[in-house]
Amino acid sequence: MSDLLYVNGGTPLSGEITVRGAKNFVSKAMVAALLGETPSTLRNVPQIRDVGVVTGLLQLHGVDVQAENGTLVLDPSNVESAHVADIDAHAGSSRIPILFCGPLLHRLGEAFIPDLGGCRIGDRPINFHLDILRQFGAVVEKREGGIHIEAPRRLQGTKIALPYPSVGATEQLLLTAVRAEGITELANAAIEPEIMDLINVLQKMGAIISVDTDRVIRIEGVDRLVGFQHTALSDRIEAASWASAALATGGDIYVRGATQPEMTAFLNTFRKVGGEFAVDDEGIRFFHPGGDLNSIVLETDVHPGFMTDWQQPLVVALTQAKGLSIVHETVYENRFGFTDALRGMGATIQVYKECLGGRPCRFGQRNFYHSAVISGPTPLAAADIVVPDLRGGFSHLIAALAAKGTSSVRGISLIDRGYEHFMEKLGALGAEFSRD
Ligand code: EPU
Repeated sequence: MSDLLYVNGGTPLSGEITVRGAKNFVSKAMVAALLGETPSTLRNVPQIRDVGVVTGLLQLHGVDVQAENGTLVLDPSNVESAHVADIDAHAGSSRIPILFCGPLLHRLGEAFIPDLGGCRIGDRPINFHLDILRQFGAVVEKREGGIHIEAPRRLQGTKIALPYPSVGATEQLLLTAVRAEGITELANAAIEPEIMDLINVLQKMGAIISVDTDRVIRIEGVDRLVGFQHTALSDRIEAASWASAALATGGDIYVRGATQPEMTAFLNTFRKVGGEFAVDDEGIRFFHPGGDLNSIVLETDVHPGFMTDWQQPLVVALTQAKGLSIVHETVYENRFGFTDALRGMGATIQVYKECLGGRPCRFGQRNFYHSAVISGPTPLAAADIVVPDLRGGFSHLIAALAAKGTSSVRGISLIDRGYEHFMEKLGALGAEFSRD
């Protein structure tokens, strides 16, 4: 099947779709299963490529993975080392292999992590991860094609302060500290809902973890962990992406499975832009009520702020808002590359190196175009687009759906990484498209 989609835009998306478990939680819970002495069951698992990648990596390490109707049963009874070349081939563009370190060090005493991929939205270093592992007593050595990590003796609890509340580094610490000897304290931790759900999983496995005020997490290491049974929290990035699609196309989408508590910051912003929503027990209806959309000033941030992953889809909707919107991206230094294609479709978007519209961030006074000014409303015209990354790609898809005429969107398999059955969902919402 070709990687090219023709989208005939200009029709409001309308109807109902379902979102399942969060990509950025499910993959981590799957890694956590490595720490148990007995099998784990994870429910509400979406069929996305990242789940396939982690499944492959677990299988390479001897974990038996059975998948049926959105439920995974992961049996880590026979964890073993994998061949370096196989890990590399399976990891693809994923960044998840870095999170195998702690569990593999506990289980096998060593781990090999291939050079990492992931979306090209910034440099995306792993220095926090390696510093954490070293502080637990691991020996990290750069080798050809990746990093070899060894634990000469049992990892020791430690006290760490992150320079920035990184999601991945916080998860690294949790997955390592739960079986380390003694107490670990992490200051300036990330506290995203996906991390809280990972803590739920680890607690079910037998871990002792407390989340204190002011981003401090404390873990008392234990000698053994068992399998868990857990239903993954909902994917709030996917839910917000469809919400933005409703706004940008003048549509009305009921997102079954969307949950309010994890989306507070998004819902506030959605309302300020002029979108309306209705929350019920099963999901959230997002709709464009008609009339003008409003321009806004927005800054992305770590939780409980407005997520960076919500930014790209919403920017497409902001091209249809009246006036000047300012968006300051403070999590990644390079997450506005996708606006090039929007400009090509008729949007008026300028990017700046300055910190606009908010507090100065880590990227101010450096050479990063991390603020954007969007002037609207501008009609969008069909174009030939190449998908740059997961969220940017979905945003391009939204732009093509909002634009009059037929766009070609190339590289859509990247979108499969994080949006389950997105073409079926587009069909259910009345989108007009065909696959080459
Ligand atoms: N950072 C470092 N050094 C490190 C780790 C991170 O400098 O060792 C920096 C990053 O460069 C970035 C910032 O810290 O500027 C935040 O990165 P973080 O570690 O929080 O991101 P991540 O764990 O790599 C996860 C999600 C991303 C999401 C971010 C922020 C997964 C698999 N990925 O990435 O999701 O944007 O948290 O919420 O969980 C996506 O789903 O499309 C996606 C990119």
